[in-house]
Amino acid sequence: MSNLSLALAEDFLSNVKLPPQPEVLLFIQNELSKEEPDIACISENIVKDGALFSSILRLINSPFFGMRSEIKSIPHAISLIGLENLTTNIACIKFRNQMNESGNVSMPRYWDNATDVAELCSYLAKELGIASPAETYALGLFKDAGIPILAQKYEDYKGILSQQNKTELKNHTDLEDQYFNTNHCIVGYLMTKKWGMNKALREACLYHHDVEYMINEEFRGDEESRKLILISKIASYVANDKRDENHYEWLKIKDFILYYLGLSEPDFFELSENMRDFLSERDSI
Ligand SMILES: [Fe+2]
Repeated sequence: MSNLSLALAEDFLSNVKLPPQPEVLLFIQNELSKEEPDIACISENIVKDGALFSSILRLINSPFFGMRSEIKSIPHAISLIGLENLTTNIACIKFRNQMNESGNVSMPRYWDNATDVAELCSYLAKELGIASPAETYALGLFKDAGIPILAQKYEDYKGILSQQNKTELKNHTDLEDQYFNTNHCIVGYLMTKKWGMNKALREACLYHHDVEYMINEEFRGDEESRKLILISKIASYVANDKRDENHYEWLKIKDFILYYLGLSEPDFFELSENMRDFLSERDSI
């Protein structure tokens, strides 16, 4: 991560309002920690929230998750994707519902980008077979959760963020660190921690702009979180390409990602073309 200490940042952010952890999420995480979670009780809890139930079925049956048959019930979903992945999906739905307004960051634009990246992450996880599609989807949605949260706190955040996104910096978050003494990676980490998300996802949020973390030859961190980040970097590259944004960070990590995933240039070209086709097909429906 950046040269800021996480402990200092946590202390500094103690007055930042993070979205509260949804009750249904807390309930399921408690069940998940038991030796034998009560599936009937979990299902009942979800179904009684009609909007959540229909959102879960819609999400799980989306093409980027690639289910072979339509899932119609919570026990069926748990038997196919597991309770942990279902919990992650619920966190994604609740997060999106809670974050519909935020300071001066355009939320429709934020969600357009986050949704593209999340769906591409899931698509890639399935194609490459190296990570859970539900986890990678969640990283796509949560990794920049700190942006709308910081935009609510600081009036000038959007301007600094926009300047940062257009500038080639040593570390991607240098301007946020300089102006606000924190950055969206740290806030995203604290948010996922507050919501009880797993370690790999939390760390992926924290390190998703840390090039040294991603490409370190003597890596000693959480390999699961590194895989999530590397998948999200390809997804962000293709999603940002559609928006014609800069690729400073991508250029620093591209060679390592291809090496790590064992992809040649032609393989990568084909993969990224397939991802662009996936987005075009989705948008044409
Ligand atoms: Fe980010």
